[in-house]
Amino acid sequence: MELHTCDLPDENILSPCTIVIFGGSGDLTQRKLIPALFALFQQERLPKPFTIIGCGRTELDNTTYRNQLSDHYRHEGNDLSAWLAFAANLHYQTIEYTKESFFQLAATLRDLDQRKKTMGNRIFDLAVPPQLYPIIATLLGQAGLAREHQNDNGWGRIVVEKPFGHDLNSATQLDKVLHTHFHEQQIYRIDHYLAKETVQNLLIFRFANTIVEPVWNRHYIEYVGITAAEKLGVENRASYYDNSGVLRDMFQNHMMQLLVLSAMEPPYRLSPDAVQDEKAKVIKSLRNFHPQGSRLCLGQYGPGTIDGDKVVGYRQEQGIPEHSKTPTFAMMKLFIDNWRWQDVPFYLVSGKRLPRKETRIVIQFKEVPHSLFQGMLGDSIHANRLVIETFPEEAIRLNFQTKNPGTSVCLRSMTMDFSYHEHFKSISLDAYARVLLDCIGGDHMLFWRQDGIEASWAFLTPVLEECERHCQSGKSLQFYPAGSWGPETTTDMTRKIITSAEYNKASSL
Ligand SMILES: NC(=O)c1ccc[n+]([C@@H]2O[C@H](COP(=O)([O-])OP(=O)(O)OC[C@H]3O[C@@H](n4cnc5c(N)ncnc54)[C@H](OP(=O)(O)O)[C@@H]3O)[C@@H](O)[C@H]2O)c1
Repeated sequence: MELHTCDLPDENILSPCTIVIFGGSGDLTQRKLIPALFALFQQERLPKPFTIIGCGRTELDNTTYRNQLSDHYRHEGNDLSAWLAFAANLHYQTIEYTKESFFQLAATLRDLDQRKKTMGNRIFDLAVPPQLYPIIATLLGQAGLAREHQNDNGWGRIVVEKPFGHDLNSATQLDKVLHTHFHEQQIYRIDHYLAKETVQNLLIFRFANTIVEPVWNRHYIEYVGITAAEKLGVENRASYYDNSGVLRDMFQNHMMQLLVLSAMEPPYRLSPDAVQDEKAKVIKSLRNFHPQGSRLCLGQYGPGTIDGDKVVGYRQEQGIPEHSKTPTFAMMKLFIDNWRWQDVPFYLVSGKRLPRKETRIVIQFKEVPHSLFQGMLGDSIHANRLVIETFPEEAIRLNFQTKNPGTSVCLRSMTMDFSYHEHFKSISLDAYARVLLDCIGGDHMLFWRQDGIEASWAFLTPVLEECERHCQSGKSLQFYPAGSWGPETTTDMTRKIITSAEYNKASSL
């Protein structure tokens, strides 16, 4: 029997709760959080009852707030009744980041609990710039809102968006403040990449299929390529991005997570802690990295063309300093020093203003040890390649050789193709909807644990410091035209990983 359901928390046992969104007037709330919550509401997956309170310094009343958020759904011919039913649970409270304001918020929450019967269960979602994370955690603590299960007052959870710090030191500092007021099990550090079906499916694919694990190691795999290519530039996040760059924005979190899911050992059971233990081990096994060597390439996009339209270079983007040395592209070649992966290169590539948006993991297998067909076909037998794609499609593709029909021996590469959306017609959840639902259900599986974050920063911080020294001197930053696959020195390798063309050898970086 095919199993079409997933292990989402059973909505019938989700406790009533209030979701407090700090940054309720912001971009993330409008574009991701509210649409995700509305989708859950339409699928009847939110607890009953529930309440949402947007908070911010902007002065708004409930009606204006609801109207602002509804713009997205007001299209001619659209039935607004579902939105109106959802919006009746939406509230807004103007706040300042002061003790008094948070005591007022606590009073509002108590009042709503009484009226809406939300039982004192609260999720505090920090959809605000990261410098506010410690301030909000502290104020929640001071207002008594971080307490849990005291006098049966329900639970309290805090949801933190990336970036989790700027380097190892700031990540540890942030954690210290969070832990002053919240226990680890109350903290949910979101990485929405992990909530994609194919990313989760990687564990199932690896550990629920006998044929996969025996070949998932250095004996059969030539290299692993992990790519997160973006077509967009910095958009309206110039000041954040120019202080972060691609290594902080993509590598510390999303790329590391894709790496650990590809490389981790099977956990002894499928519990959040057992999975996190195995993930942390992979990061701790990464071979020391010296940015000056040939294992890192950093780039920045210049003017170019995307989809036939001329676009400006990074330094001409609004809000970016004209001599900025911030990298918008990176390719890293990493090694994991353990028995399974010794000397197998992992290529991590991410960049902005590349020709198309694409996220994928490529497992490139080794060539057959001896080719029977070499005399007839020369060297051109492509080795097997497995592609696990999360964007634009959620798909798994395995490339293998077959014989062309006819009397002569002529090989042809074919692809076994599994598309998630073609095969599973049931409604799949958007990544934000999935993580919010898991947080409501108290499931930590898809969230970062602090030791993973610290291990990731411990690996990347010296690299970042070294890169920043070199980039500032202008030594190691290479430029690439927007719309290309990155700096010239890397395009050969990038194309091998990104494009669907078949290659069987990793060229040296
Ligand atoms: N947007 C995305 O797609 C995205 C993706 C991944 C992660 N994130 C992370 O999610 C968080 C929120 O992102 P966002 O794009 O929604 O941010 P945002 O629009 O810049 O800010 C959200 C809200 O925070 C308040 N705010 C801004 N600056 C403030 C300041 N200096 N002091 C106090 N309040 C301030 C503003 O509300 P008031 O003025 O009303 O207080 C603003 O509407 C950030 O940490 C970001 O890194 C965002």
